[in-house]
Amino acid sequence: MGVNTMSSETDLDFFQLAANMRAMRRLKPDPVPMALIWKVLNAGVQAPSGQNTQPWKFVLVSDARDKAWFADQYANAMETRFGLPRDPAERGATRRRGQLRAIYHQMDHLQEAPYLLLVCGERDWPFKVAEADRVGLAPPNYGAVYPCVQNILLACRSVGLGAALTTMHQVFEEALHEYFQIPIDYGVVVTIPIGYPLGQFGPVTRIPAEQKTYLNRWGEAPVDA
Ligand SMILES: Cc1cc2nc3c(=O)[nH]c(=O)nc-3n(C[C@H](O)[C@H](O)[C@H](O)COP(=O)(O)O)c2cc1C
Repeated sequence: MGVNTMSSETDLDFFQLAANMRAMRRLKPDPVPMALIWKVLNAGVQAPSGQNTQPWKFVLVSDARDKAWFADQYANAMETRFGLPRDPAERGATRRRGQLRAIYHQMDHLQEAPYLLLVCGERDWPFKVAEADRVGLAPPNYGAVYPCVQNILLACRSVGLGAALTTMHQVFEEALHEYFQIPIDYGVVVTIPIGYPLGQFGPVTRIPAEQKTYLNRWGEAPVDA
């Protein structure tokens, strides 16, 4: 599927969208109309959830100081947890690799994104954790929140917005909760910086389903693959 590059493309069918929704980590600081954000978030909330509980909540961060706070925490987490230096002078040869370069760009410019979207999920024990075995906090309902997140990412791509799923906030989630006054019965599942793309959209690189699929029994190749 060779559809790529056009940043404002809005006429892609579903299969083209799915095949052309790369993580867009380079974003312009240009403002994004709120109407577009509502369109995207309302696509998100069309997602299914167990018993239609819809256990998601969003914190949309647009305030410059708040974004700067988040970006600072994020860069610290990338440095301490992933060993990606904040100081460009310390980055060395790894700077040449494509995805890593984009990750560094995101790390350096996160506060410039028009919006940082925190997608929160209500905490919920998975089925098999018996009440007697429960220790600490339940995880957020990932199974319900990820379909919503995927709808949001596809909707962003569809309206020509860049977006990228990030999870690094988990390293500073306690501080995140305190800063944005998120109640303890919700966890922050993903953070999605959203803005108009600075980079080019393009096709994703994935292993074809034929190479990931067995027929009837694990290990049996489908006849027509
Ligand atoms: C569960 C999950 C967690 C992810 N966490 C991060 C993250 O913390 N930071 C990031 O830059 N990308 C993150 N990603 C995006 C992936 O790195 C990205 O989708 C993958 O490398 C493929 O690249 P592409 O989507 O551009 O083709 C995450 C994706 C998923 C599904």
